Amino acid sequence: MRLFNTKILGTGSYLPERIVTNKDLSERIDTSHDWIVERTGIHQRRVADLSKGENPSGMAKEASLKAIEAANLTPNDIDLILVSATMPDQSMPNTASVLQEKLGITNLCPTLDVNAACSGWIYLVPMADAMIKTGLYKHILIVGSEMLSSFNNWDDRNTCILFGDACGAAVLGRASENEDSRIYSSILTCDSTKKDHLTLMAGGANKRITHEVLDKNEQWMTMNGQQIFKAAVTTMAAHAERVAREAELTLDQIDWFIPHQANLRIIEAVGTRFNIPASKVIVNVDRFANTSSASVPVALDEAIRDGRIKRGDNLLMAAFGAGLTAGAICLKY
Ligand code: ACO
Repeated sequence: MRLFNTKILGTGSYLPERIVTNKDLSERIDTSHDWIVERTGIHQRRVADLSKGENPSGMAKEASLKAIEAANLTPNDIDLILVSATMPDQSMPNTASVLQEKLGITNLCPTLDVNAACSGWIYLVPMADAMIKTGLYKHILIVGSEMLSSFNNWDDRNTCILFGDACGAAVLGRASENEDSRIYSSILTCDSTKKDHLTLMAGGANKRITHEVLDKNEQWMTMNGQQIFKAAVTTMAAHAERVAREAELTLDQIDWFIPHQANLRIIEAVGTRFNIPASKVIVNVDRFANTSSASVPVALDEAIRDGRIKRGDNLLMAAFGAGLTAGAICLKY
């Protein structure tokens, strides 16, 4: 069977207009700009406005159109849509099918939502790679679209300071025979022994949203920040090392490291363990905070569009999220 190499054909991103600064938060809850910057590196975050169409599918439409244009394709060239959304538009229909309609795609391509929390977009890359490699699909749109503001308890200083809304998208397709682009290696894992460190237990089949749930404030996420912090550092560093080794690349040969943007201290600790210089690490957590599965594709798109990432560069991307899901990808852009 003939196998194809997978190439990132185009990327796009969308950030909601509204900016919420640390100062804005400190006027509502007992926190300060300095505390948030010192513990997280976050200065501000974007928050979606439903009245402006900024929901997961709406943000995905804008990011996807940019990615499709950058790939020199039209929406009807897409033959599979995969969307990672920790909080989808609604349970049914899936966000990916709403996105198909919003993009004006009429070719009846299949649509699928996945939820692997902040690792969701990274989870989609090897899945799309396998399907492109074998020729099952030609142009796969993979999207991380996140509106965590909808389940962020804005009165809980332990969590609300951390998150922001955004969408990142990429079109993956076949590299032509004279091109070097390829996915070298990937790893996806889930350590369910750590699944209770980050949860949102109400709103699913087990616990419907009732007056009692609302009275107990159970409709929001809860997090054990220190446990997540430790697991994030060890897992992302180990995964990054492994995919680099499997790609047979030395650290010198890696041009850019794009980690999940959860907390600047996590990013720095992973960089130190993985031994990659800060000048090669792409960071935007200061401006956008943790945008869950949108964070890696948004950072990727930003660095491609501002010229830091160039064709032929070796990229290493890593993420972790609730579950505790995690993954890393090493590729030639
Ligand atoms: N402002 C001021 N003080 C605060 C705030 C705040 N926003 N939040 C907590 N504090 C207080 C605490 O109450 C505590 O006070 P105490 O000592 O009197 O009890 C003190 O600050 C220290 O709290 P810690 O939790 O020890 O602070 P830490 O240094 O661990 O930082 C943080 C907390 C930023 C949450 C950190 O643990 C972290 O980033 N963890 C990782 C979280 C993460 O990445 N989550 C995303 C997962 S990905 C996904 O799938 C969504």
